[in-house]
Amino acid sequence: MHTVYVDSAVNDQVRRERLYNGQIFVFTPRPSTIALIQHARKMIAAAFGNLDPRDAQFHMSVEEYVSIVAPLKPQFIHHPETKGLIQDILRDFSCDLEKTYLDVPRLRMVTSDGYLTSGVGYAHHPHRDTWYSAPMCQLNWWLPIYEIETECSMAFHPRYWNQAVKNESSSFNYYEWNKSGRKSAAQHIKSDTRKQPHAVEEIELDPQIRVVCPAGGIVLFSGAQLHSTVPNTSGFSRYSIDFRTVHLDEVTSMSGAPNVDSEPTGTSLRDFMRGSDLCRLPEEIVRQYDQGSLVEEGLIFKPDLGDVEKRQVSVVS
Ligand SMILES: [Fe+2]
Repeated sequence: MHTVYVDSAVNDQVRRERLYNGQIFVFTPRPSTIALIQHARKMIAAAFGNLDPRDAQFHMSVEEYVSIVAPLKPQFIHHPETKGLIQDILRDFSCDLEKTYLDVPRLRMVTSDGYLTSGVGYAHHPHRDTWYSAPMCQLNWWLPIYEIETECSMAFHPRYWNQAVKNESSSFNYYEWNKSGRKSAAQHIKSDTRKQPHAVEEIELDPQIRVVCPAGGIVLFSGAQLHSTVPNTSGFSRYSIDFRTVHLDEVTSMSGAPNVDSEPTGTSLRDFMRGSDLCRLPEEIVRQYDQGSLVEEGLIFKPDLGDVEKRQVSVVS
């Protein structure tokens, strides 16, 4: 049974339990979320100048589009206001900031009609975030920045909540991915060769749940949900923000959603920062999650502005 709770007033503890049980929460826009999307809109508008970012793709080459959006992603992450706005949202949703840890918020774009489906515009195949070394207690918060339609939304495939999918996560190592895979995203314009943990069996995409909420609404779900990006046929580019949280209690007890088929090595937990003061999780707690050998260099995802500037040279050349 899958329930979509809309504007539920249950407390954070009950909400987390339901999320770990496969339920989905949707919230309509409120001042704290509107502040975040307005901040994102301002940055996006500045990058595109006179063009409407939603149909800018039809007025430029894909290389040019990438050269505009690729720097936007780290700029959004590093902007001094961004983290504070996310903290405001978590406070607004009654999360205990002493125990709730968040990672950096991501800005994503999914262009329409197959214009850009790789690299910075990668359209995510059906996956669980836990295949990518997310802890089983990870929660995903997703917000559309402009109005969306079902043709450019995100899909959940709830029948797989309890059902294992054969997948490549056992050969995914988070530290290797940080070292090589993600840094090269902007170089992948026409195709994407980064090693992603795919399903290796046919997935029945239906029945699927898509949530169309207003811009500034939130879809909140477990990182263990099988989900995918809907191939965008809406006729305009979709821009969204997502960020992830974990709660110290479940991180410590290594609990959360049931693990039906995730076998990656390494953990993304070192990316998370305490809501109150942005301190990292205690290393002794995180270390419980490390199986196999550590690759020291790639422990933390470091979105680097300097890197992007360098990358732009290769994107436009
Ligand atoms: Fe995901």
